[in-house]
Amino acid sequence: MGWDGEGVLAGRYRNLGRIGQGGMGAVWRAHDPELGREVAIKELRVPEQVTERERSVWYARMEREARAAAGLRHPAIVTVYDRVMGEDGRPWIVMELIRGRSLAQLLAEQGAVPARRVAAIGLAMLDALSAAHAQGVVHRDVKPANVLLEGDRVVLTDFGIAAVEGDATLTGSGAVLGTPAYMSPEQVRGERATPASDLWALGATLYAAVEGRPPFTAPSHGGLFVAIATQEPAPPRCGGPLAHLLHGLLSKDPAARLSPAQVRDLLQAVSDDGEPPLAEHRPPSPEPATRVEPASTGACRHPVAVRGALVAAWIAIAAALLLPRDFADPIGLSILLEVAPRWLEVALVVAILLSCLLWNMTDRPAFVLPAVAVFAVLLTLAAPSSYDAIVINELGESDRAPDIGFGLAWAWLAGAVALMFAFAGVNASLEARMPRPALLRTAVVIEGALAVLWLPLVFWTLGIGMDADMSRHVGSEARAWALMGVLAAVFTVWVAAQAASRRRHRGPEPAR
Ligand SMILES: Nc1ncnc2c1ncn2[C@@H]1O[C@H](COP(=O)(O)OP(=O)(O)OP(=O)(O)O)[C@@H](O)[C@H]1O
Ligand SMILES: [Mg+2]
Repeated sequence: MGWDGEGVLAGRYRNLGRIGQGGMGAVWRAHDPELGREVAIKELRVPEQVTERERSVWYARMEREARAAAGLRHPAIVTVYDRVMGEDGRPWIVMELIRGRSLAQLLAEQGAVPARRVAAIGLAMLDALSAAHAQGVVHRDVKPANVLLEGDRVVLTDFGIAAVEGDATLTGSGAVLGTPAYMSPEQVRGERATPASDLWALGATLYAAVEGRPPFTAPSHGGLFVAIATQEPAPPRCGGPLAHLLHGLLSKDPAARLSPAQVRDLLQAVSDDGEPPLAEHRPPSPEPATRVEPASTGACRHPVAVRGALVAAWIAIAAALLLPRDFADPIGLSILLEVAPRWLEVALVVAILLSCLLWNMTDRPAFVLPAVAVFAVLLTLAAPSSYDAIVINELGESDRAPDIGFGLAWAWLAGAVALMFAFAGVNASLEARMPRPALLRTAVVIEGALAVLWLPLVFWTLGIGMDADMSRHVGSEARAWALMGVLAAVFTVWVAAQAASRRRHRGPEPAR
């Protein structure tokens, strides 16, 4: 049985046209005159190359799973209305018509989806999967094409349709069902799909949504299977709790994957725009989160890190140029204009203008780090004390190394803070690359040391040394020590703040 000559199925549903075609069959729009509503009808097919015996086993299992899926009632799960059995044993599934498009279509049209919207989609999917798992139904084929978006509603479709014993991906005849890009390593190995397999696929789907490409790609199914089973996906660029979530879901070992409660906490943290998840796990909300929040303006953003770094860098420049070296001296700017080479003035102005362009690029913290490093070098060259060392030394009149005057002391401090903000921005993605916390802790300490010692490091790298006796200009020895004390305090605050931020974003450890 199928569409008859008049385009009617089972004497009831009138064909209104095909909505789309997937790997397992086509989906049709149809009118049900008995209930006066439009429906979607999925026609299931199995690949041509499977044997007759496999085909009948397949149909029987699809039928059984369709029944199980029909028992699911949830706002984020497409409602199955009816099942029509074809003469060849092929089931046709009549279901709720979703007026929208799939996440796969959305990604094809606009590339990546903003992180907060991805989180809202993830929360709805998690609700749907949790409800199904509670009733013993495993989806087995979670992927962007099976996530339908109707306005701000998120609906998961094709529950259990990919079910074939053993499990489902490779048949005896070698045929592959569906899209393997989102299959879990255990499914690829031919093991039975479990709720944890759906969580893997949820991770792979959200990865594709935020990154604009699936976590694993390969030119052939074989290559894809090897990649899924053996390789780590490229660390997501977004960083933060979303990167933790993706890393925790895409664990090869199903037992090591995040629990649904942990997934919920991390998604909620992204959805709340970086607010920390509650320490305690919340029970699943009685009213499932099936609404998608309005799209935020970008992917993973680090406004505080990026803008903090820029503001601190500008303060460093202002301090170096507008404060005198000694209270009796002229300000750095007038010396810069009189003594420094023109290119240095031009380079400084260009660097400031370019840095203004970074103000709105809060999703690109990696650009700010080199920008702040360039400032640091220019600042050391533009500071008055450098002229003594560079210009006067070249004239052979002095062999003094640059010393740290009043203005440069403040620039040193502000530059250290700028570098720390810039490091904080890139640490989120560093975190995703460094699953071992000890490595990240070491990186944070090294970053802090680099940030605090930036000024002497630049002088030494330029080979012009530095006069460590700052007391001559900073006023008194006590003030020089005070500067060292403040730098040490800034370093301590940096290490503590990074540790606290990691704890907040990491959330609970994965359940083993
Ligand atoms: N209930 C529904 N209402 C409206 N459109 C739907 C519904 N179910 C599926 N679709 C749309 O029909 C198209 C085909 O879906 P189908 O499930 O056949 O393909 P697929 O998900 O890409 O692959 P697979 O066969 O592996 O599931 C998709 O574009 C999907 O958005
Ligand atoms: Mg589908």
